[in-house]
Amino acid sequence: MVRACVLILCTLPLFTNGLKILGLFSHSGKSHHQVFEPLLVALSEKGHDVTVISFFPQEKPRPRFKDISLTNLSMPGSEVMNVDTKGSRIVKYKAILLIKMFADSICGPLLSSPQVQNFLKGDLSYDVILIEFFNSNCMMAIVEKVKAPTIGLSSCVVMPHWNDHFGNPDNPSYIPLIYMDYSDQLSFLERVENTVIS
Ligand SMILES: *[C@@H]1O[C@H](CO)[C@@H](O)[C@H](O)[C@H]1NC(C)=O
Repeated sequence: MVRACVLILCTLPLFTNGLKILGLFSHSGKSHHQVFEPLLVALSEKGHDVTVISFFPQEKPRPRFKDISLTNLSMPGSEVMNVDTKGSRIVKYKAILLIKMFADSICGPLLSSPQVQNFLKGDLSYDVILIEFFNSNCMMAIVEKVKAPTIGLSSCVVMPHWNDHFGNPDNPSYIPLIYMDYSDQLSFLERVENTVIS
């Protein structure tokens, strides 16, 4: 009995400190996920319960780490995108359209997939949500359901449509889009282009 009590007392801090963490990563690009993955793994190793919805499940099962895999929804070619900001206007616009297309086309299949629907029917009590702010905001629908404090993560320059969420100023008259190789000294026509493309 005493031994059991000591054991419980010793392990108590592990349980009381461990948070239930939900990771939401809707982008199918591996290079982005490689930035977040070490953080998620480290959190599970520190005693937190980590559940991750992403295109990149762990190769081997890990304690306190649960994957909800989206791999069977990924579209061929969506892992690699050529975004050449020094290219011609056509090349830049094509890159923007491509990023938008991948973002738009994944939302429906992702949110209606059996794996995400089953997740939403389960226990949604989480202490904190980590979500990637990149090309698509469709996983914000899951945030709305789970309603836990949410931390936005970005593995690259913040995309213009997320600036509002971060409270960043975003004025197209002097802040060029990531896709443009302009300085903050824009000509009138560059400002018009920057505004329209934004
Ligand atoms: C993807 O996998 C899930 C199980 O994780 C399955 O229920 C679903 O039908 C699969 N979807 C497709 C499009 O294969």
